[in-house]
Amino acid sequence: MRLILLGPPGGGKGTQARLLSEKYKIPQISTGDILREAVKKSTDLGRKAKEYMDKGGLVPDEVVIGIIEDRIHDADCSKGFILDGFPRTVRQAESLGKKLEELDLTIDAVLDLRVDFEEIIKRLSGRRACGECGKGYHIESEPPPKEGICGQCGGRLIQRDDDKSETVKKRLEVYQEKTAPLKDYYQRTGILKTQEGKGDIQSIFRNVCRLIENL
Ligand code: AP5
Repeated sequence: MRLILLGPPGGGKGTQARLLSEKYKIPQISTGDILREAVKKSTDLGRKAKEYMDKGGLVPDEVVIGIIEDRIHDADCSKGFILDGFPRTVRQAESLGKKLEELDLTIDAVLDLRVDFEEIIKRLSGRRACGECGKGYHIESEPPPKEGICGQCGGRLIQRDDDKSETVKKRLEVYQEKTAPLKDYYQRTGILKTQEGKGDIQSIFRNVCRLIENL
């Protein structure tokens, strides 16, 4: 099974992708996570990406397209994958389409998680992640057992730089301009599925699984 998770920043793509990856035993491929890891390690890619990420902009298409084209060849993708945060522009979607065609593969569904602006702000301002193992939390909806400390490894929880309010505003503008048009793009190919993204995480997950199993 090959899936794309669409949706605004904070829409719950990462949260649902992790649950889906566990249930269906296929990898979650998050360009955001790959880029953050590169920033953390201060690689050439990381240094280049950081400039854009810190401002809430998109990393250039050719950079992320290259990352995905390499990643989908890995052995763990042979039974499928979940793309989380890619594609994010029509150009990225077109390149992905071409690449999959070359490999004689298709995308089974594009899942658009719908969440309103107010909820996004609440989610991103409360999001925290472990600086050691990367496990994600939310101070209200998924709090750690002990404030500021990861329940999995005991690491310190940190806030993503791009979750600060000014950068969130920019990310939302970029989403509207560059990524929202992908809904029409995939609607035309008949594989777009829309799912209400507000509500209990497990209920959303059950609905998403139902959508997938009915494909
Ligand atoms: P990326 O990491 O992809 O950020 P994003 O798309 O803005 O998405 P988020 O990770 O913020 O949100 P999410 O939808 O995964 O929500 P989550 O599940 O975490 O990208 C970061 C940057 O990298 C970009 O700005 C760009 O610069 C660059 N980049 C990445 N991909 C790129 C590409 N393809 N092209 C160019 N540049 C690219 O949930 C958010 C919070 O809400 C969490 O705390 C969670 O616990 C909570 N939550 C989740 N679901 C619920 C729920 N149902 N109810 C209550 N709380 C919930």
